[in-house]
Formats: sequence, structure tokens, C-alpha cells
Amino acid sequence: MNYLEASRAQAERLRGKEHVRILALETSCDETAAAVIQDGRKILSNVVFSQIDLHELYGGVVPEIASRAHMEACDRILDEALSRAGMTLEETDALAVTYGPGLVGALLTGVNCMKGLAYAAGKPLIPVNHIEGHVSANFLTHPELEPPFLCLVVSGGHSHLVEVEDYGVYRQLGQTVDDAAGEAFDKAARVLGLPYPGGPRIDALAEEGNPDYLQLPRPKLEGRYDVSFSGIKTAFLNAVHGMEQRGEKLPKADLAASFRSAVCGQLAEKTERLLKDRQAEGKKPVMALAGGVSANRELRRRMEDLCGKLGVKLYLPRIDLCTDNGAMIGAAAYYQLQQGRIAGLELNAEPALRFV
Ligand code: KG4
Ligand code: ZN
Repeated sequence: MNYLEASRAQAERLRGKEHVRILALETSCDETAAAVIQDGRKILSNVVFSQIDLHELYGGVVPEIASRAHMEACDRILDEALSRAGMTLEETDALAVTYGPGLVGALLTGVNCMKGLAYAAGKPLIPVNHIEGHVSANFLTHPELEPPFLCLVVSGGHSHLVEVEDYGVYRQLGQTVDDAAGEAFDKAARVLGLPYPGGPRIDALAEEGNPDYLQLPRPKLEGRYDVSFSGIKTAFLNAVHGMEQRGEKLPKADLAASFRSAVCGQLAEKTERLLKDRQAEGKKPVMALAGGVSANRELRRRMEDLCGKLGVKLYLPRIDLCTDNGAMIGAAAYYQLQQGRIAGLELNAEPALRFV
């Protein structure tokens, strides 16, 4: 029996097992992260090693530095995840790894590391889509949440409104026609001279600022639930450059607040439209948020207000599970294992892997 056949037989047996514990690794960007997750819902350990210090100097993630740093950190972070869970590798039931989307070198480091471990330990290997991982962070935060639900996915590289019809089954309803929300935040932060990653810095600054200081455009889009951030970004850039040319001191908090308000306003507006459409069809929608930008304070407040007003149940991921981590990969992996979606040793990194 070859490795994949043996893994399939094991995966079949695991479906009937009372508790399934998965060791997961995430290395798609600039976090080397590992976790042990039980039954897709319970975090036994969650270790995140951020490389921000290494990339800050360059104002963004340098792919080559990221790959090397992952390579150096992988073993240590996996060991730490196991020891914090009080387990050995042999005691885990399966392994999981992010195989896309992301930086090719960074992904390859993780994929190769886990292929080697899975083969050596004779465990099934579950290949996880990073964005599905973000959505699954909600399963860790809310044990009662089950599909179907609507989800606003807003990360550094993605912005989607989707329906999670079942575990691992997504239907796209809307998306960004240009930049991702996180990308827009990072670019605006760079214009204000804030260090990488800019999203959280803009968010913190904005708490002290006036959101009505700068009027930013509201894009007109064909897609009913689509969003666009490039017009907002360009208008913001032009305004800031104009002030700099006139030698004016930048009111950074007011600028940050204005930008944040324009981005979050658009996300909330499209979500409101979707929820109201569903209610008009007589449905009872359930809403969730996912991805790094779901840590944004204004976005969370707006979603809480909106869902409160419409009487819609809202699920927000725990703040530390919004940005990249291994726990979310372990949660997504559990449901894939139930469906028998495991990988053979030919598994490769897929930097442009699609979500929907
Ligand atoms: O989901 P994530 O960790 O990585 C990707 O899969 O892309 O998202 C990272 C993105 C970055 O663009 C970061 O600036 C943004 O999420 N982000 C935030 C906040 N925290 C992280 N953006 C706005 N407000 C925040 N509080
Ligand atoms: Zn991410």
C-alpha cells in the first residue's frame, strides 16, 4: 500500500473516532504559525511567530526573507505547538498545511515540511486553502456556528461576500473589483508614513480622528454586492500629496479616520444590501466576518450596529484569530478530513489558489 492509499484508509477510520486532533502549519505570508486543534472546534495550542520585525525595514513582506525565516522557524514552532498541547507527533491523528494562496516560496517551505513529517509519521496530510482557514476561525470562536451563513471575507489579498453553503462549499455573491480591503489600508498607511503592516496602525490612529475631515468618493459599481477601493485610495493619495506640497502638517488621525470610514462604510453598505435582500425573500440570514481586516474596530462596530438593527445574528472571529494563525487551518482541515479531502506526496504550493 502506498502512502496515499494508507492515508485514505486512516482518514476513513478517523471519521468514526471520538476525538480527532490535527497538527496544522501556516506559512503563506509572514507568519510561521502552528496549532493543535481538536474536532475542528477546540484549540489545544496555537503558536504564532510573526516576522514583522524582519520586514518592517522594507515597508512590506520581502518574499525571499519570508521563505528563509519560515524554514528556520518551522520545526521550532511545530514542536512548541505539540508541547503546549501536551502531545507528541505520534499522538496526533493527522497533519494539515496551507498550500495556497500566498507567496510561493513561503508556501513551499510549509508544504515540504509537512509532507516530510506526514510521510515519516505515517499520518494523513490535509491541504488547506488559506482563505477557507480564515472563514473557519469562526468555528473556533463560536462552537454553535454551522453553515449555512453569509460571510464577509476581508484580508490583505481578498475581499469577498460569500455564502458558506456547507463546510467547504462557498458561493460568491460579491467581491472587490480592484484592491483588497487590507491592501488598501496598507497603502494608505504607507502614504501617511506609518510602518508595515499599516491596517492596525490606521485603525488605532483613527480612533482619535474626525472621520468627516476628508470627503472620499463613493464608487458606483455594476455588481450589486461588489466593492472597490482604488478610487478611495487614489483620492486619499492625492489629498495627502497636495497637503505635503503646500507644506501643511498632516492631520494623520483625521486622515486615518476618514479613510477607515470610507472603506468600512462601503463594506457595511454592501453587507446591509445583501442582508436586506435576503430578508425581503423571507429568509433569516446569519452573518459572519473573516480575515485580517475583520479585526478592524470600526468594521466590527458597524457590523454590530447593522446586524442589531436588522435583527440578524452576527458572528465575529476572536481578535487574535482574525489575522494569520495555524488554528484556523486546523479547523478547516477537520471538515476536509471528514469529507476525505486529503493529499498525496505530489502536493504542491498553489500561490494563486482560488477561494470561490
Ligand atoms: O488575513 P491577513 O492576516 O492576511 C492575508 O491573508 O492577507 O490580513 C492581513 C491584512 C493586512 O493588510 C493588515 O493591514 C490588515 O489585514 N489588518 C487590518 C487590521 N488588522 C489587520 N486592517 C485594518 N484594521 C485592522 N485592525
Ligand atoms: Zn490571511
